Amino acid sequence: MMQFSIAAPAKLNLCLHITGRRADGYHLLESLVVCTELADTIDIAPASTLTLSIQGEFAEFLQDFTDHNLVIKAASLLRLQSGCNAGAAITLTKRIPVGAGLGGGSSDAASCLLALNQFWNLRCDPGMLHRIAVQLGSDVPACMARSAVWMRGIGELVTPVVLAFPMWVVLVNPGSPLPTKDVYHGFKSAFTTPRNMPTSFSTIQDLLALLGTTKNALEPSAIQQVPAIQHVLASIQETPRCLFARMTGSGATCFGLYANQSDAATARRMLQQRYPEWWCVDTGIKDMTL
Ligand code: C5P
Repeated sequence: MMQFSIAAPAKLNLCLHITGRRADGYHLLESLVVCTELADTIDIAPASTLTLSIQGEFAEFLQDFTDHNLVIKAASLLRLQSGCNAGAAITLTKRIPVGAGLGGGSSDAASCLLALNQFWNLRCDPGMLHRIAVQLGSDVPACMARSAVWMRGIGELVTPVVLAFPMWVVLVNPGSPLPTKDVYHGFKSAFTTPRNMPTSFSTIQDLLALLGTTKNALEPSAIQQVPAIQHVLASIQETPRCLFARMTGSGATCFGLYANQSDAATARRMLQQRYPEWWCVDTGIKDMTL
């Protein structure tokens, strides 16, 4: 194959419950994860060795980590487990902020696995790709789905969810890095009992009703470390026709939900004008299955 290009969408946790903690310290989750149209791009070209170059708005935050990048880890694991020795020149265009709770690195890794499986003509079955995804990180299996899922366990259990309506979001990050590990470490609340969650939502009202009974359990810990998150949440909530606002993942990015694109675009413009130092984008929630 000559060239290959794939979008690696950002993910949002519409809710995130912590249902327990494993002996190794990892937290058990129950989280509704959706995909956004905001995406990094991975381009693959033929090469004799495996190389990665990074460009785009957030490339500078990753340059030091090229050797340890999750994309290279994904490609190396895929080669190891499939017995393939081929090379590839991978270019990652980084549009998703790094370390922001948007699963950018995990999505890059998931998309890279899917793309290289085709590029190298490996024909690895979904089970094998899933096993590699689990080894790469908690969010990688959910990112492999490229559509709405309930994520459970520490991320290895993924159940498809049908969202039968469009919706749009504004994503806001106050610019303070927030390491995932520290946020989990600061989680001191009681565990949430797992529930029988719906796997299909016919209307945005159905979804909002469910979200109203849920939370992001990592919000208090994240706010303690970056108090600006509370201000971000309140500012999103104040925008016209905002249906819902919450922090995603371990933060610090927060999102507002809107029923149509122009409401999201208006809210994003207002927030950007008032807080030019914040990173704000509006984007659609979309099924990104290949
Ligand atoms: O999987 P990831 O590399 O994103 O996790 C970073 C850190 O977050 C882990 O080392 C762990 O301390 C914490 N974590 C956790 N429970 C999870 C996911 C992450 O405690 N389910």
